[in-house]
Amino acid sequence: MNKWIKLAAVEIPDNGGTLSLAQRDKEFSIRLSGIRGELMNSRVHGSEEALAELGCARLKSKADAEVLVGGMGMGFTLAAALAAVPDSARVTVVELIPEVIEWNRGPLGDCAGQPLLDRRTQVHVGDVAKFIAGEQGVFDAILLDVDNGPEGLTHSDNQWLYSESGLKAIQRALGGEGTLAVWSAGPDPQFVMRLKKAGFHTSVRSVRARPGKGSHHTIFLAKKGSIL
Ligand SMILES: C[S@@+](CC[C@H](N)C(=O)[O-])C[C@H]1O[C@@H](n2cnc3c(N)ncnc32)[C@H](O)[C@@H]1O
Repeated sequence: MNKWIKLAAVEIPDNGGTLSLAQRDKEFSIRLSGIRGELMNSRVHGSEEALAELGCARLKSKADAEVLVGGMGMGFTLAAALAAVPDSARVTVVELIPEVIEWNRGPLGDCAGQPLLDRRTQVHVGDVAKFIAGEQGVFDAILLDVDNGPEGLTHSDNQWLYSESGLKAIQRALGGEGTLAVWSAGPDPQFVMRLKKAGFHTSVRSVRARPGKGSHHTIFLAKKGSIL
């Protein structure tokens, strides 16, 4: 097996550390300085896809479905969201680091089948928290995978997203029956309590990192309106 080759590195705003991209044969890895292990590996994406499949489960025949994906990463959640909605839907991906979008237009593009080339995809470079705070009643699904779970890991301001006021802003950005889905490395009972306090109907799913195997990850599903 060949050695890892570092392809690029970029500083995250507000002293968030360095995000780096490496390649070994057809495998890609994204690492964040100060964090042991990888932030993402292109061979492991079952739970990133499950995030979109669970969050968009009711949108298969909603012609005007609007989906927001927070965090581009390697594009697996975006690609799974596109697969879960009709041809006439729109999926907006919001990514903090412009270089991550460039990497997906370049070497990472084939990992998830070039979801940025899909005509339903809209790209917004910026902070998903600020983006959400500026929207009202728009989204049928908001899919968040910007951290290791409901805590600000890659960007300290992300903590606001999981706070009571952040969750209220997410509620406002969702349409009447909209769903919030949040990826997490593990369970977080306090986050579930905050979701309920913010008025969401909530359920917690355990999903595998790879189809039928690998680590267990958690998807928090939180729905406005009627019960899940
Ligand atoms: C773990 S990766 C997402 C993986 C993605 N679900 C996939 O399928 O490949 C996290 C991504 O969120 C981005 N990110 C972190 N904080 C963000 C924020 N506040 N707004 C937008 N993107 C953010 C990171 O730069 C990174 O690209």
